[in-house]
Amino acid sequence: MRKIIIDCDPGIDDALAIMLAVNSPELKIAAITTVSGNVPSDMGAVNAKKVLKQLNRLDIPVYIGEDAPLREEYIDARDTHGMDGLGESFLPEVSSGCEKQSAVDFLTEILEKEKISIIALGPMTNLAKVFSKKPHLIRNVEELVSMGGNFRSHGNCSPVAEYNYWCDPDAAAIVYDLFEKEGNIIHMIGLDVTREIVLTPNRLEYMCRLDKENGEFIRKITGFYMDFHWEQEGIIGCVINDPLAVAYFIDRSMCSGFDSFTAVATDGICRGQTVVDSMDFWKKEPNSRILTETDPEKFFRFFMERVLKKEDGSKWNDEELKLLHEL
Ligand code: RIB
Ligand code: CA
Repeated sequence: MRKIIIDCDPGIDDALAIMLAVNSPELKIAAITTVSGNVPSDMGAVNAKKVLKQLNRLDIPVYIGEDAPLREEYIDARDTHGMDGLGESFLPEVSSGCEKQSAVDFLTEILEKEKISIIALGPMTNLAKVFSKKPHLIRNVEELVSMGGNFRSHGNCSPVAEYNYWCDPDAAAIVYDLFEKEGNIIHMIGLDVTREIVLTPNRLEYMCRLDKENGEFIRKITGFYMDFHWEQEGIIGCVINDPLAVAYFIDRSMCSGFDSFTAVATDGICRGQTVVDSMDFWKKEPNSRILTETDPEKFFRFFMERVLKKEDGSKWNDEELKLLHEL
């Protein structure tokens, strides 16, 4: 089992990523830390607890992280994720609270003690605060997989920037810069690969046929997101970015790409753009693995196999999951 921390801004696709991680026996989730992004960090923490309750995993501690970007004015994404951050599903509140310690202090403390991996699914504000104060802690990051950025794919909140890195560009710039200085790399699961991961109505219906309870939970939190994609991009379905980062962390064959030095623009019209030096103009050591290819069918079989449960508790076989190919 690999020990991980999920740093996120739940958020609909963050919720799906948590569902996948909790149902993956390869992972030991030490904690969930939240950061202001899709929704403010305290609301994200409440949402993480709601998802953990749905999964009967309230044993996983949740720490509240930074409530605003390092410098920029905080701009949320509730237009996309709903006023409650979970597609206006308004799931029942969870009585048990979040941890008192801040996410930044928790991350600092655990990284002082041990090597651990981080799957980052939101703006990098928490990570920037930890590593700018103690850059040596980067050596205790076994692997950092970040959903964020884009190489050749266009932005989703500006012509050139992806939301997580646009929301707090200074934090992303600091983390990429420090990873280069400390000789570690960030696995960047950007829009180039996540745009291929579309939860279509067919796929959703199929999930509900296989496992009504979990399928209907996914339907409940993604309906608002489906509407947003139709209104904004004329897409039938919704791009579920974050769970791909979890799937890739577990199974490297989920995505392929290349190593490169990457910097993040922090100001002006290119705010949040990931500048990937794929042609090595700057002759700098790689600080990133840029994932550019993925296989949506492989991802959805991986996701369904773990998140959906058979009535008799047995494992799905290929025959049952193969049907997806015929959609
Ligand atoms: O740009 C997509 C990313 O921003 C996803 O992680 C989504 O949840 C938001 O955080
Ligand atoms: Ca997210």
